Amino acid sequence: SVKLVVIGGGSSYTPEIIEGIIRRYKSLPITEIALVDVEEGKDKVITIAKLAERMIEKSGEPIQVNWTLDRKKALRNADFVSTQIRVGGLDAREKDERIPLRHGFIGQETNGAGGIMKAFRTIPVLLELAEDVQEICPNAWIINFTNPAGIITEALLKHSAHKRVIGVCNIPFNMRHSTAEILNANPNQVKIEFVGMNHFVFGQRVFVDGIDRTNEVLTNLANEKLDYSPANIVSLGWSKGFINSMKLLPNPYHQYYYQTTDILTKDKEALKEHGTRAKVVKNLEKSLFTIYSNKDLNVKPKQLEERGGAFYSDVACSLIDSIYNNKGDIQTVNACNNGAIADLPNDSVIEVNCFITKNGPKPIAIGSLPPQIKGDILQMKAFEELVILASISGDYNLAYQAFIANPLIKDERKIKSLLDELLCAHKEYLPQF
Ligand code: G6P
Ligand code: MN
Repeated sequence: SVKLVVIGGGSSYTPEIIEGIIRRYKSLPITEIALVDVEEGKDKVITIAKLAERMIEKSGEPIQVNWTLDRKKALRNADFVSTQIRVGGLDAREKDERIPLRHGFIGQETNGAGGIMKAFRTIPVLLELAEDVQEICPNAWIINFTNPAGIITEALLKHSAHKRVIGVCNIPFNMRHSTAEILNANPNQVKIEFVGMNHFVFGQRVFVDGIDRTNEVLTNLANEKLDYSPANIVSLGWSKGFINSMKLLPNPYHQYYYQTTDILTKDKEALKEHGTRAKVVKNLEKSLFTIYSNKDLNVKPKQLEERGGAFYSDVACSLIDSIYNNKGDIQTVNACNNGAIADLPNDSVIEVNCFITKNGPKPIAIGSLPPQIKGDILQMKAFEELVILASISGDYNLAYQAFIANPLIKDERKIKSLLDELLCAHKEYLPQF
């Protein structure tokens, strides 16, 4: 029997993970699920727990699901702990998106100033969780979905005693699945060699059953026939020149870095039209929870696919399955570099193809960074390191340095007022500053 604890169980995403667990019950017998949330999320977690119960009952599998606000109690005997929290809720996200935009910068929850603030709010909270896990269930694996997932995972691996931490994201999954579709292949046959970090990862080469089909994929990208962007961000497509010259598969978040002006314009328009993504998600959540409350509902509703993180549970469940069953298959996760990228320190967290066994992820060597992205990746990693240091110390100057080191911010003339406004807006959730 296996016990899974979901930190942030009241999230509207949770029915996905429940579905994934039910579907895999035969190979991965999770018999106990504890949904943990905080006081503010109580109503939501109760609704989710009831829906989960109906889904499980329909499946007939012997799975117990409970909800609690007592995290420490929930952690007893846990084998896996997944985290999907949002410190400060969607109100905080709204500020992360709106404030930078007003200062003339990209306003996004995982990139630029918004992503930094999200990291500042989240790292101390998840470090505390990691300490609890180390104390209460030291053998448990933390599967971290909480954004910015790569930075958070690196913060935990570097600064907590608990070393069983793996970060995950649906972007590599989406890239592989859309690529499979355009190549008329089964996603299981497709292997993309990834290089980089979470939300800054590139595909280097694409193989289908061992045959290199990278050029075909690049042609489809250049002709805008292949689009793997999630529901939460606009998709402007890529210029032929960019794809043909770079010879890499960008991920959708790269638009913020390589199409900054156009995206800024688009996002400002979107803000006028329907508000921030946070606002859109608030409305989406409202209707999702109305749907979830329907006592006749016993499946994951289709509408959940309007969330950008759709299919994240497939990533989580496959990962847990491979650890539990010591499968040794290859999955793309956020893990310690350990030499996979020659240009980065061993303890840097990267998004990388790994063999997944009961001992966790083992990265597959990549070698040196491709020169066309080497500078950006080193820059982004240096930036991420500063975010972690600032977040832990609460040091204003380190926070400032993180803003300077972020390619989306930089501008010395504008940083102080942006940083000060953000620190003030979020002060309730930034006790360290
Ligand atoms: C993407 C990212 C996730 C992110 C999500 C946001 O899929 O990979 O890390 O959480 O989008 O989606 P949302 O529906 O919250 O805007
Ligand atoms: Mn992600």
